[in-house]
Amino acid sequence: MTQNKGQISTLPIDLNPQYLPQHVAVIMDGNGRWATSRGLPRIAGHRQGARTLKELLRCCKDWGIKALTAYAFSTENWRRPTEEVDFLMLLFERLLRRELTQMHQEGVRISFIGDISALSKSLQTEIERSMLETLNNQAIHFTVAVNYGSRNEITQACRQVAELVQKGELNLEEINENLVEQQLYTAGILEPDLLIRTSGEMRLSNFLLWQMAYTEMYFTDIFWPDFDRAAFHQALLSYQGRDRRFGQVKPSLSA
Ligand code: FPP
Repeated sequence: MTQNKGQISTLPIDLNPQYLPQHVAVIMDGNGRWATSRGLPRIAGHRQGARTLKELLRCCKDWGIKALTAYAFSTENWRRPTEEVDFLMLLFERLLRRELTQMHQEGVRISFIGDISALSKSLQTEIERSMLETLNNQAIHFTVAVNYGSRNEITQACRQVAELVQKGELNLEEINENLVEQQLYTAGILEPDLLIRTSGEMRLSNFLLWQMAYTEMYFTDIFWPDFDRAAFHQALLSYQGRDRRFGQVKPSLSA
């Protein structure tokens, strides 16, 4: 994503501004393959992937999309080679240090979801600082999932609800979807309207399983580092062609 650097890009004319997703989620897959296919180490793919994410964030903001959530590191990603895990953690920390001021100036609110207590103390400090500093920003809500796993998130929500019952602060009959939702990392964040997964893989990989019950899915063969503005435009065109019924039957015009 190198187009329009430093200047605001306008929404392509074939996209309807009234029917844009409010919240886009991305599974940034294919960094390793992108690098290997160029004879580069896998970490070069992650570095380029981070640039792609930054450009996508700017593009979403310019085009009026209010939230972007990115799956940066799953609870399963610890099983990768230690050097790769260490590099990713360093990359997150370095990016936060380097980009925070500019993101803050651009009105980006940053949140993290996942169990951050397992991360290094210095990364936790940067994460907490970025969330606190940008808390009142309104231009776009950027959420990064780190050490995130949906099953783990739902399990800990169950535990918190059970604890309320055990303490006598909640009756069984009061447990409903809203209450469970409030215990998730994403409490207060709108559900994604569109999920994009790159690199040809077609699965959710333990990402936002509860939150994506009615999310539209878009899969593309493009490797994440190559997912540019043109590719995002295609994803949005596909989204705008969908008929979202949320389980209902659309009233027919003849009825
Ligand atoms: C998946 O590709 C990618 C990741 C596990 C890491 C994604 C992280 C970034 C792009 C950095 C973003 C930075 C911030 C601050 C959020 P893969 O390695 O599984 O690719 P492969 O399937 O080709 O091996």
